[in-house]
Amino acid sequence: MSHLDIASMEGRQVWDSRGRPTIEVEIRLSNGAVGRAIAPAGASTGAGEALDLRDGGAAFGGYGVSEAMAGLRNEIIPVLIGLPADQQELVDGTLEALDGTPQLSRLGGNALIATSLAIAHAAAAGRDEPLWSYFAMGDAPLIPVPEIQIFGGGAHAAGAMDLQDFMVVPFGASSFREALEWVAEIYLAAGDLVARRGASVGVADEGGYWPVFDSNEQALDALLTSIEKAGFDPETQVGMSIDVAANQFFRDGSYILKAEGRALSTEEWYDQVAGWVRSYPIAMIEDPFTEDDHTSHQKFTVEFKDRTQIVGDDLLVTNRVNVETAIADGSCTALLCKPNQAGTLTRTKNAFDAAKAAGLGTIVSARSGESEDTTIAHLSVGWASGQFKVGSFTRSERMAKWNEMLRIEESLGARAKYAGGSVLGRN
Ligand code: PGA
Ligand code: ZN
Repeated sequence: MSHLDIASMEGRQVWDSRGRPTIEVEIRLSNGAVGRAIAPAGASTGAGEALDLRDGGAAFGGYGVSEAMAGLRNEIIPVLIGLPADQQELVDGTLEALDGTPQLSRLGGNALIATSLAIAHAAAAGRDEPLWSYFAMGDAPLIPVPEIQIFGGGAHAAGAMDLQDFMVVPFGASSFREALEWVAEIYLAAGDLVARRGASVGVADEGGYWPVFDSNEQALDALLTSIEKAGFDPETQVGMSIDVAANQFFRDGSYILKAEGRALSTEEWYDQVAGWVRSYPIAMIEDPFTEDDHTSHQKFTVEFKDRTQIVGDDLLVTNRVNVETAIADGSCTALLCKPNQAGTLTRTKNAFDAAKAAGLGTIVSARSGESEDTTIAHLSVGWASGQFKVGSFTRSERMAKWNEMLRIEESLGARAKYAGGSVLGRN
């Protein structure tokens, strides 16, 4: 038995940032090292994602995880005991084969991703190596540019605004530490603006202000004003970014704009989004069209790829095959990389590597349902993703990740390289 073999393992039900049950897995190796990870959960999901196993029924709004916990205890743990934790592909392959379904629905993406991430934590601890360094496998680390939510909407704010995330991207900063300082000023300015207009309802699921505006343009204007009021240049320092999450308001062939009480055809919606990209300093735009509409994605990418980064989240669901299709047909220019969409770390890496190899941008991302788990900060640095999306600049499940990035940056000292504008083709 090697010192990095899995000696014992347990699962426990813990709670996520929406107050819903989720799964934590804790793994102990023969040498005594311990690794632990918690599964996150999405609300605006793509069709091909790994599927969480939820109990349904009345308890906890149907979000219970007792079935997933039982699968963990009765099937996953017995099979993994004794396997080498530092052979992630072997462990993940075992997990995927054990589940036996394409979307990991039998044992649940929630049970599998918590297990897969905990294995990596245990292996890194067992080798007495920082997690980011274990993920880097000897390659140079890179401190990513954060993409930080200021206003939340869409499925994360009861549909009060159609677009889901209004974010800022401080690509012009010289370090992550400075990037967060810039965003703190913008967040303050945005809070003032919303309060002065009496538009604040509260906070959305990822912690951003949840304002009520009369139109999407008002929200875009407010975001731009906040950047400028805080003293930053949106062209060279802090860009705007929007996650349209268009799946969420596409119904029966139309885009239904709730705030404005309008239904737009695909062509009208295309013109609307194109108009925004032309008239605002939008550095990144995510899921501008519903995930099945490859034609609009392709046309949009041809037209705007030099002006803005076009990010596929629901379009790609961190799936290598979808990434390869998108590369072949040119339907986006960046992958939003969410480990729990893939279900295992190995599947995540396969999608990530395919995107990187083709020159796509890569943004390691959290979910709207999160926890204190900071694995993705290490993943972003170790895999040199260059970009990192975690939600807003409030709430501890978000701040835990931003703060962990500060610690990593500090620990790297002179070796810390901030990705900066190059990831957006800007310097
Ligand atoms: P989700 O939202 O975690 O609810 O899917 C995040 C996103 O769409 O990027
Ligand atoms: Zn998204």
